[in-house]
Amino acid sequence: MPIQDIFEGFQGASETLVLEIGFGKGHFLRNYAKACPQYYFLGIERFLQWTRHTKKRLIKDECLNVKLLCGLAQDVLRDYFENDIFDEIHVLFPDPWPKRRHHKHRILQKPYLELFHQKLKSGGALHITTDHKDYFNDAMKAFETLKPGLFKVVEKQDYPFKTNYQIKYEREGRPIYFFQANKI
Ligand SMILES: C[S@@+](CC[C@H](N)C(=O)[O-])C[C@H]1O[C@@H](n2cnc3c(N)ncnc32)[C@H](O)[C@@H]1O
Repeated sequence: MPIQDIFEGFQGASETLVLEIGFGKGHFLRNYAKACPQYYFLGIERFLQWTRHTKKRLIKDECLNVKLLCGLAQDVLRDYFENDIFDEIHVLFPDPWPKRRHHKHRILQKPYLELFHQKLKSGGALHITTDHKDYFNDAMKAFETLKPGLFKVVEKQDYPFKTNYQIKYEREGRPIYFFQANKI
C-alpha cells in the first residue's frame, strides 16, 4: 500500500519514516515520536493487547505522527508495503525463541533480514538490541550469510529513548547487545 495512504500529509520519499517492530508497551515509539514530531512513525506488533495499550497512550499524548498495525511484521511488511521507504527499522528485544525447534519463529533470520533490506531506503538503518547473547550471535551469523553489498555494519547510533525491556534489564544490570547496519 502506498505509505501516503496511511499518513495524512505525508509527502513522500524525502520525509523521515521510522518503523518499530514488536513495540510491546510502546515506550520507545511514543517517546521518540513525541521528541520528533516532524518524523512519521509506524509500529507493527503481533499482539492486539499491546497495540490497544500503546494506541490509548498515543491518543492521550495527542501523538498524531504514529500509526500502529497489528500483525506479524514480516507478513505485513511483505504484503502491504512498497520497497525503499523506511529510514530506520528498529527491532528491539525481539522474542528470542530459545528452544531450537522454535528458532523458525525468530524475526532475525536471513529471509527477514533480506526483507528489511528491501524495505529500507538506501542509507537507511537497521537497529537491533537484545539481552539474549545466543540470539544475538545467531543473528550476526545470519548477517554473514547475506549477499555481500547489502548492508554496512556501522557503530550503533545512540538514542535517548528506551524500550520497556531495556529499562527493566538495565535496572537488573543485564548485559545488552546493540547492532546497527545501514543499507548500502
Ligand atoms: C520481548 S517483547 C519486547 C517489547 C518491546 N520491544 C520492548 O523492548 O519493551 C517482544 C515483542 O515483539 C512482539 N513480536 C514478536 N514477534 C513479532 C512479529 N513477528 N511481528 C510483530 N511483533 C512481534 C511481541 O508480541 C512482543 O510485544
